[in-house]
Amino acid sequence: MIKLKDIRKEYVLSKDNIVTALNDINLEIEEGEFVAIVGKSGSGKSTLLNIISCLDKEIKGSYILDDYKIQRKKPKELAKIRNQYFGFIFQNFNLLQKLTAYENIEIPLIYKRVPRKKRKELIEKYAEKVGILERLKHKPNELSGGQQQRVAIARALVTDPKIIMADEPTGALDEATGIQIMQILKELNNEGKTVLLVTHDMDLANQAKRKIVISDGKIISDSKGGIR
Ligand SMILES: Nc1ncnc2c1ncn2[C@@H]1O[C@H](COP(=O)(O)OP(=O)(O)OP(=O)(O)O)[C@@H](O)[C@H]1O
Ligand SMILES: [Mg+2]
Repeated sequence: MIKLKDIRKEYVLSKDNIVTALNDINLEIEEGEFVAIVGKSGSGKSTLLNIISCLDKEIKGSYILDDYKIQRKKPKELAKIRNQYFGFIFQNFNLLQKLTAYENIEIPLIYKRVPRKKRKELIEKYAEKVGILERLKHKPNELSGGQQQRVAIARALVTDPKIIMADEPTGALDEATGIQIMQILKELNNEGKTVLLVTHDMDLANQAKRKIVISDGKIISDSKGGIR
């Protein structure tokens, strides 16, 4: 599904200050995989997620997502592809504080112009799935960290994306809550969602079906392809 070939990403800060964030990345990810990406701070993990999720097409090499040649797409097409393929979960949940849990989950459906009644149906379906049906009227500051992350997961799922992108989703949670969130990701993967998880936590990474280690912008090991 995801095919990255000879990807190189440079940030040009000035003529003689160029940061090479990724170099020589060759990576294929199939539908249904659970991939953990690990590596030190600054190694290029978030840069790689940004590229895979079509947020950054200013790259060298080639990126093909199913049949889409991502670098050739116009911004409008890319936005459509992004909405269709990717759901995002972040370390700090990224919920809108003034909105209730219900309204937060509703946002992507409003963008998609889903009618109100259908929205309610979908919001309740996914809220139940992640165990926050009883908390839909609460605002983020009236919820625990784990509950907030469940709301964020429901928001990521409500448009039924193929791929869940999770950048340190347990980073702000205590260990027990982190395990629960990991459990939800595993269940989603068992139901067929592709999961890409960035984490510093080796215990979590080792629970993934596939582990990729990045160092200084390069893949130095891939449990599918072996050590490079
Ligand atoms: N917008 C930017 N402009 C310039 N350099 C950048 C930019 N974004 C990232 N970088 C550099 O690219 C490299 C990779 O950054 P990236 O954010 O991908 O690391 P990371 O592995 O996600 O780190 P962390 O674990 O701290 O989140 C770093 O050296 C960083 O300083
Ligand atoms: Mg990062």
